[in-house]
Amino acid sequence: MEKIRIGIIGTGSISHFHMVGYRASSDIAQVTAVCDLNEDRARAFAEKYGVPHVYTNYEDMLREAPLDAVSVTTWNNAHAPATIAALKAGKHVLCEKPLAMNAMQAQEMADTAKAAGKLLMVGFVRRFAQNTDALKAVIEAGDLGEIYSSQVSIVRRWGNPGGWFSDKKRSGGGALIDLGVHIIDLARYLAGNPHPVSVYGATFSRLGMKPDILGVEKYKTADYDEYCDVEDAATALIRFDNGMVTYLNVTWVDNAEDSSKMHFSGSKGGAQLEPVLEIYQDRHHYLNNIRPKLQYQGIDMEDIFTKEIRHFVTCIRDHSPCRCPAEDGVWLMKILDAVYESARTGHEVLIR
Ligand SMILES: NC(=O)c1ccc[n+]([C@@H]2O[C@H](COP(=O)([O-])OP(=O)(O)OC[C@H]3O[C@@H](n4cnc5c(N)ncnc54)[C@H](O)[C@@H]3O)[C@@H](O)[C@H]2O)c1
Repeated sequence: MEKIRIGIIGTGSISHFHMVGYRASSDIAQVTAVCDLNEDRARAFAEKYGVPHVYTNYEDMLREAPLDAVSVTTWNNAHAPATIAALKAGKHVLCEKPLAMNAMQAQEMADTAKAAGKLLMVGFVRRFAQNTDALKAVIEAGDLGEIYSSQVSIVRRWGNPGGWFSDKKRSGGGALIDLGVHIIDLARYLAGNPHPVSVYGATFSRLGMKPDILGVEKYKTADYDEYCDVEDAATALIRFDNGMVTYLNVTWVDNAEDSSKMHFSGSKGGAQLEPVLEIYQDRHHYLNNIRPKLQYQGIDMEDIFTKEIRHFVTCIRDHSPCRCPAEDGVWLMKILDAVYESARTGHEVLIR
């Protein structure tokens, strides 16, 4: 069988992890073209990985390059236009998270994929982590009973990546749309993808970039600057149609120690996904803590992207069901829209 020919739109930080994945799947896929607004960056990427075709405009790439599928790894504001253009040009798409800037765009992307008969997969890469797989198996076996509550949190003390991330017209928002996406999705995914019904949320923009901090380094995006018009932090209570309530806390900047915590409370047992996977069950009248033995306790970026990309190209080759379908990206965007709306109005927002 011919290899699946891949184009990458956006050759910044995360595209290198997509490339790791495509190289690991070189038996069935091959990256044949790349595109970035920044020509030097696109050329350097193409040279590093031996990609023959380089573009600065994705419309040109979609028209001229022989491609079957693309990875969209641009700033958030280009996810919808690039994905829709690719789908209309007959390509399958793996689009990075968040699927779009808002739910309306995300729905249009999902509808375009359906009309074109092409796969639109959302880059919910944490669904491919070993700890997620292990906990999913425990939950699907019924060991935790009904999950009625989950608490998910990522706290960064001084972690605003700057550049496009903190520029609302290119990102759509701050900590919530960046980090919140991953952990809200995990709460939904592990609980069996319930639909959200209501959200009460708040966002905070009190601390900003803190440009004068000394003594520590932080991750800075490729085109770093200190412009910021997005939230440092967000908190929300999200109610789902299976009765589960998720408490979310996410910060880019906070007067608190860095941490990542996810806990699920069920009628028969509970589980902590992060910082370390641990299952809590009563056994023979004793309170048991069970720690599955895993190769990677936390997240190994190369491992999760390799599995995500393998899944994408396998779905294309075999027409098999996708673990991260577009509709899950749409539901996620409906939740984010509702948090921002609730933060703006001070009231609970219903989701339909
Ligand atoms: N899954 C994850 O864990 C994860 C981690 C980091 C970033 N991301 C997502 O990946 C995306 C990219 O993030 P990044 O950190 O790589 O950013 P980045 O700034 O390093 O790279 C983005 C690149 O896209 C290019 N670009 C922007 N608009 C374009 C357009 N219209 N056409 C062609 N190129 C365009 C930029 O020039 C830049 O080189 C974001 O959506 C982000 O949310 C996901």
